[in-house]
Amino acid sequence: MTVYNFAAGPATLPDPVIKQIQEELPSLQGSGMSILEISHRSQMFDNIINTAKQDIKDLMHVPDNYHILFFQGGGTGQFAAVPMNLATNHHRIALLDSGHWATRAGDEAANLGVKVDVLDSTKDQHYQELPHMPHAISADNYDYLHITTNNTIEGTAYHQLPEHGNVTLVGDLSSNFMAEEYRVEDFGLIFGGVQKNLGPAGVTVVIVRDDLVKHVDHIPSILNYELFIKKNSMFNTPPVFAIYATGLVLKWLKQQGGIAGIEALNQKKSSLLYDFLDESKLFHNNIKKSDRSLTNIPFKTDDPDLDKQVIAAADQAGLKNLKGHRSVGGLRASLYNAMPLAGVSALVDFLHHFEKQH
Ligand SMILES: Cc1ncc(COP(=O)(O)O)c(C=O)c1O
Repeated sequence: MTVYNFAAGPATLPDPVIKQIQEELPSLQGSGMSILEISHRSQMFDNIINTAKQDIKDLMHVPDNYHILFFQGGGTGQFAAVPMNLATNHHRIALLDSGHWATRAGDEAANLGVKVDVLDSTKDQHYQELPHMPHAISADNYDYLHITTNNTIEGTAYHQLPEHGNVTLVGDLSSNFMAEEYRVEDFGLIFGGVQKNLGPAGVTVVIVRDDLVKHVDHIPSILNYELFIKKNSMFNTPPVFAIYATGLVLKWLKQQGGIAGIEALNQKKSSLLYDFLDESKLFHNNIKKSDRSLTNIPFKTDDPDLDKQVIAAADQAGLKNLKGHRSVGGLRASLYNAMPLAGVSALVDFLHHFEKQH
């Protein structure tokens, strides 16, 4: 039976990448050593990390005045690292509350003593649409504005960035990183764990504009941007395997026509499911149409028990991990870069059949 994994992360990886990892696992580049064993100080790994950086630069058209860094600690680590490194002038940031992960980012910054102004929130609308800038803000008052480009749990995404004037924009791209095109130069800083669209769990990519990185006293070295730039992300032992595997996914992504190519496919995949849901009498997605995510699609019936039946029957049919996040309930299909169109077709066929029977 073909299995399709709709998990929200860690998530499905491209088949050719899994195959390549399998083939290379016992002996990397004929060295007689596995990627699981080699030193991060070896020439082999130096090539791996520098190639991955160059491939990110090529794929995202990262301008020369930005640094590409690899951290551990996930998006959650960056919820602390970003305010510690960047909120050093006004000690005040602005935030658009688009859901769970935006709230978590705001809470972590506040926990570190930073003043967080929530400019708009769609909590009262159950986050079924995006918040927008209610008024212009100025860099004279704020160190940055934090947004979550794609809301993994709620299923919304900014396809156009909010008007942010001259204030630095920080983007949490965790769940649509290289799944959809953004202009790096519109942001001062971008971050995201790779475990959804780009690789296995264990590495977080940060892309930061050079002029924003300052020397900051009394912050942990492990989250210090200035230090990580100086040490080429190897201040300590980096997640060697995760960076290697991400490197393979980046090469695969280039073969798919880069981000433009994969975004076109992601549009096709998500439209297939949304079109079905919009026609269905049984299943609904309640997100405002212009704000719908390409990568995370929550949906449900009107009956939580029936939702459970759908999830169980889908699992039996090889359509895995469709349970929605506990805060939203229902189902969620995550259609990240490596989910093939055939997987979405199989899901739509299954849902169609289920609907006919009920
Ligand atoms: C949008 C977003 N931001 C941040 C995070 C937290 O990432 P991590 O689990 O890598 O810390 C997640 C995790 O799913 C996420 O979806």
